[in-house]
Amino acid sequence: MPSFRTRHSLVFALLLVACHPQSGSAPSPSTAAPGATAVPPTAQIDHRDAPKMAQATVDAAFPQGWRFPSGTKASFGEHAMVVSNSALASEAGVEILKAGGNAVDAAVATGFALAVTYPFAGNIGGGGFMNIRMADGRTAAIDYREVAPLAATRNMYIDANGKLTNKSVLGHLASGVPGAVAGMNAALTKFGTKTLAEVMAPAIRLAEQGFVVDSAFSRGINADKRDISLYAGRDLFFPNGEAPAPGARFVQQDLARSLKLIAAQGPKAFYDGEVGDSLVAEEQRGGGIITKADLQAYTPLWRTPIKSTYRGYTLFTMPPASSGGITMTESLNILEKFAPLPPFGSTQYVHLLAETYRRSFMDRNEKLGDPAFVKVPMEQLTDKGYAATLAAQIDRAKASKTPAFNAGREPEHTTHYSVVDAMGNAVATTTTLNGGFGSKVWVRGGGFFMNNQMDDFAAQPGSPNMFGLVQGEANAIQPGKRMLSAMSPTIVLDPQGQLLMVTGAAGGPTIITATMEVILNVIEYHMSLADAMRAPRLHHQALPDEIRVENNGFSGAVIDSLKAMGHAIRSQGGIANVNSILRVSGGWHGVFEPRSVGGAVGY
Ligand code: GLY
Repeated sequence: MPSFRTRHSLVFALLLVACHPQSGSAPSPSTAAPGATAVPPTAQIDHRDAPKMAQATVDAAFPQGWRFPSGTKASFGEHAMVVSNSALASEAGVEILKAGGNAVDAAVATGFALAVTYPFAGNIGGGGFMNIRMADGRTAAIDYREVAPLAATRNMYIDANGKLTNKSVLGHLASGVPGAVAGMNAALTKFGTKTLAEVMAPAIRLAEQGFVVDSAFSRGINADKRDISLYAGRDLFFPNGEAPAPGARFVQQDLARSLKLIAAQGPKAFYDGEVGDSLVAEEQRGGGIITKADLQAYTPLWRTPIKSTYRGYTLFTMPPASSGGITMTESLNILEKFAPLPPFGSTQYVHLLAETYRRSFMDRNEKLGDPAFVKVPMEQLTDKGYAATLAAQIDRAKASKTPAFNAGREPEHTTHYSVVDAMGNAVATTTTLNGGFGSKVWVRGGGFFMNNQMDDFAAQPGSPNMFGLVQGEANAIQPGKRMLSAMSPTIVLDPQGQLLMVTGAAGGPTIITATMEVILNVIEYHMSLADAMRAPRLHHQALPDEIRVENNGFSGAVIDSLKAMGHAIRSQGGIANVNSILRVSGGWHGVFEPRSVGGAVGY
């Protein structure tokens, strides 16, 4: 069994989860569909939840002891909606919308604001993927994933004894060449209506004038105190030895200066100017390998989103260098062969999803990588006929086993935001430093954290990464190559071809499964968006060969039956961090992750 390497970044996620105490662990009743329990609450359902789909929503029922009751309300926006892990960043997006900007303008404003107010994952020192669908039907995806520095080598994280070191996770060597500034600018230039200076104004204000720290922010910083304090960020984040206390104003002058330079000069300030000089100087100070030549060579790439269908709905998902779109498509194609899916929360539901994920992650972990370096069998993996052969291999009565090779590694701090504007333009963006606060290296003078995205490569093919993912040669390190991602910014159209959902997640490999489960909860199980987001989640990634389930999310009877079928079960706190928008009668519902923090701001 692969062992996970320690990562303090996970502590922040756990702290956030701890903000939502569980409601107890009373045994769940055993019913005909174990886990899909008896009496659903009905009184609190907001019938604006019923989207304009072929069917209305039904009341969801979760097991007794599950911490999130069903039937709560979503935020409602008649015209537009922005949902992110920071209320201030969502407000930044809405500010731009109200000033006449479109969804792409608002997404870029939200992205830069997240770099200020959510430094755990929001960034200018990382990368991401933005999936765009304009109201006129045009679709596009921009890949601004980091690339391996030109001096990177295949075995750079393996020591003299052949052991994998921690250097792809912590410190200056862990970073890929950042893509965020170039990528957001490219999206704005092609689809936006405002200038970079206009959309960056809220972020600059938040950095320069500061914002009031809340308890989650303060705890999150403190949780990574040891590693952040190893580098130059210690003075800003622990001014008197402690993180800023709740209620304190947190000002980031260095970051404000960098943002102003970028707003005034464009990406050149980052890739061939003063901000980049600070980055390169920081790398040199700490033994990193990113040079000026790396920054000058960085290019974001326009991709064609993967278009797939599931029972008449259309999905636009992210192609490689993310694995998100292929793995979701393959999984949904397999599940489509089972109609209807078993009752939500039942033994058969968990078994079928787990066996499906197992198969699509086996392909993901072994076959996917940067398409500029490896031949990705995209047509085969997204083919419905291929999915049918995989579906036929699933034994409905017992667990299969993942063959020895297919395992993998990946970090859990990332953030997703969803935007819809009054015209119906939609943007799904997922961005990341990889781990929380990335490599923990903070660029002196520049005012931002660098990513530790190099850990998303298979630093030692066949050995697990920080997510326990075991991946193959296709994702081995090569200079200039994009490391494989799981980020899955997704846009869903209803069977009439109208925009229905904008969603995506943080959480390493669980990004893929959680995003898919929220979509399934809406389109297959007809839950309201609030319930779809609160519903218990599960995950399987081929290796480790186990089903991960949320504590108390599935009844004891379901867990016992799964074990009897041969599944290993690992129970844990919250899985993933999803931020979603759903079209409803008269407007939009927005829900930020109930397991974390955020803001769904509509108008
Ligand atoms: N670093 C997480 C991902 O890209 O999947």
